Amino acid sequence: MLTTTLLPLLLASLPTLTSATTSSKRGLVYVPSKNANEAKDDQIWISGSSDLTWYYNYGASPSAVFNGHLNFVPMLWGAPASNTDMTFYNTVKGLIDSGVNISYVLAFNEPDGASNGGSNVPADTAAATWIRELEPLRKLGVKLGAPAVTGAPTGFNWLQNFFTACAGNCTADFIPVHWYGNFEGLASHIGQVRGTYPNMTVWVTEYADASVSLQASQSFANQSSAYFDRIDYITHYSYFGSFRSSASNVGPNAAMLNQDGKLTDIGSWYLGGAATGVVPKGSGASAAGRPLAWGALLAGVVALVGLL
Ligand SMILES: *[C@@H]1O[C@H](CO)[C@@H](O)[C@H](O)[C@H]1NC(C)=O
Ligand SMILES: *[C@@H]1O[C@H](CO)[C@@H](O)[C@H](O)[C@H]1NC(C)=O
Ligand SMILES: *[C@@H]1O[C@H](CO)[C@@H](O)[C@H](O)[C@H]1NC(C)=O
Ligand SMILES: *[C@@H]1O[C@H](CO)[C@@H](O)[C@H](O)[C@H]1NC(C)=O
Repeated sequence: MLTTTLLPLLLASLPTLTSATTSSKRGLVYVPSKNANEAKDDQIWISGSSDLTWYYNYGASPSAVFNGHLNFVPMLWGAPASNTDMTFYNTVKGLIDSGVNISYVLAFNEPDGASNGGSNVPADTAAATWIRELEPLRKLGVKLGAPAVTGAPTGFNWLQNFFTACAGNCTADFIPVHWYGNFEGLASHIGQVRGTYPNMTVWVTEYADASVSLQASQSFANQSSAYFDRIDYITHYSYFGSFRSSASNVGPNAAMLNQDGKLTDIGSWYLGGAATGVVPKGSGASAAGRPLAWGALLAGVVALVGLL
């Protein structure tokens, strides 16, 4: 049903070619390495050839290594335990007061999910937190990202419940999208988000075609970048892969770094550079971490509808 109505939109929006490009929309989902001896990996994202402009790290405070290089976007990851907690607001206000350029904040990482990094926040708790800590930031001129739900159908339900609980008191300026699956599914999903929230620009803040072949991973990365660059209402995007293939929970082939911290083709293309020929190797054990089942399912439905 859903996919039938979206199919014409989807087909009309498929890019026809890919090219080596740079883009001011492109940013970094920064996932710091747990191993101190891999800290040098951080430099890659701000090296001479990188044209990334912004990043987020799932937290309220900047990662010092990027100071002066990338614009920081703070995130209120989950809801604080206390309903009077103002830590996030105070932290961001403190950054602004000290001269840090904070134009945007993100809120609630996958609140509709508890696994794979989801913050699992009830919609009414999120609404109360938003009204308390985020609306005052908006008064300071900061643009607010709607809660960053998963790409699963539960995401739409959760967001609807959230805005209902807000009773008109939450204003989001843009809407983040997460997607794990193939390109057709991604484009279809973004079309549905835009159809549901036509007044918000879209940020794609996590995406990858997880656990597929290297060739498919590369085609996906190229196609999605070209698509995002072409669509005006998509203003920011950040590929989920700024880690070593051996640590990847979206499959080794999606990663921007190989097991030794060298840029893969996908990583180099993402930074605006040329292919490196570096082929990522994975542990094999970590290939199936993200919530892929429904993404693959939806993509399957799209493919099926396409055959009818
Ligand atoms: C991806 O894009 C780069 C840069 O244009 C190109 O060299 C490469 O062949 C493309 N690869 C795939 C698999 O599409
Ligand atoms: C602050 O950053 C935004 C983008 O995030 C940019 O458009 C703006 O020009 C910056 N302002 C200053 C004063 O650097
Ligand atoms: C929304 O704002 C109105 C007007 O200030 C207020 O009466 C109402 O209680 C608020 N609702 C929530 C859920 O905060
Ligand atoms: C979108 O904006 C238009 C024009 O500003 C307004 O009439 C409409 O009600 C808005 N729609 C939503 C869903 O907010």
